[in-house]
Amino acid sequence: MTISKAVIDETLNQITETIPYTPLKKAMRHALLAGGKRIRPLLMLKVIEAHDLDATLYLHAACTIEMLHTYTLVHDDLPAMDDDDMRRSKPTVHKQFDEATAILTGDALLTDAFYHLATDENLTAEQSRKCIEILTEKTGSNGTIKGQMLDIVNENTSITLGELQKIHTHKTANLIQAALMMGAVIVGEENLTPFEQIGEKLGLAFQIQDDLLEATSDETTMGKTLSDARNQKTTYYTLLGETTCQTMLKDAFHTIYDILDGLNLSNDSIHKVIKQIETRTN
Ligand code: IPE
Ligand code: IPE
Ligand code: MG
Ligand code: MG
Repeated sequence: MTISKAVIDETLNQITETIPYTPLKKAMRHALLAGGKRIRPLLMLKVIEAHDLDATLYLHAACTIEMLHTYTLVHDDLPAMDDDDMRRSKPTVHKQFDEATAILTGDALLTDAFYHLATDENLTAEQSRKCIEILTEKTGSNGTIKGQMLDIVNENTSITLGELQKIHTHKTANLIQAALMMGAVIVGEENLTPFEQIGEKLGLAFQIQDDLLEATSDETTMGKTLSDARNQKTTYYTLLGETTCQTMLKDAFHTIYDILDGLNLSNDSIHKVIKQIETRTN
């Protein structure tokens, strides 16, 4: 079976079916289901497909990345952070339920993600250990959370391109790197560096796109509140303008395809998903 977004959605549905406590289950499913492009689990699974292995065996492992990503979004939307009302075309968790529920929903998604990764029977003990190491390293105090903190403390200040890039490497690129690197661990790649490099470029490109779309698209298309201007965030768009952003995007994707071409892949499944990201409209 070729991996699609729909298969990932169904796996997330199954995983969250078993949550025993109804109020948490409801809020976690509200955050996780019916929405989300699923690009991070797709990237992990497409690395596996590109090595001719059965990616369906690793759906659960890939979904842990989506659970972790979703926790960052639930917390990111809280009043103390970006204070947003809409996410994935639905009310944010604190709007639909309340703030305490949103905090705890994020906590539960994060914690359960590692439980599922630690107990996945389709991973060897070493694969599981390595995936947990990568995911914690890339999303902890020197990863996503550092990026989120930098993003918050730099609201209302003017920052340089270098500083902006540092925020986004942590905030956005680190988790994308983790997704690709976890795929590489599962297929037994010794050298994770090319996957880490693709993840860094792809994460920055993803963020440039996000800033461009925030400035040029609308909330209905994006399915989320667009609050960068209200929160006085410096973005690639405000710092560089549309034309330079487009040039940077072209260069980033060029480099990504170059690195991919240097890898010994059996098919173009990663190319295809990166192409989808390159042409995304939400
Ligand atoms: C949103 O990520 C947060 C950013 C890193 C810009 P996505 O655009 O992947 O959000 P979903 O998962 O599709 O909702
Ligand atoms: C969200 O970043 C990234 C994380 C939650 C790690 P943003 O705040 O820039 O993205 P949106 O616009 O809310 O999706
Ligand atoms: Mg934010
Ligand atoms: Mg936000």
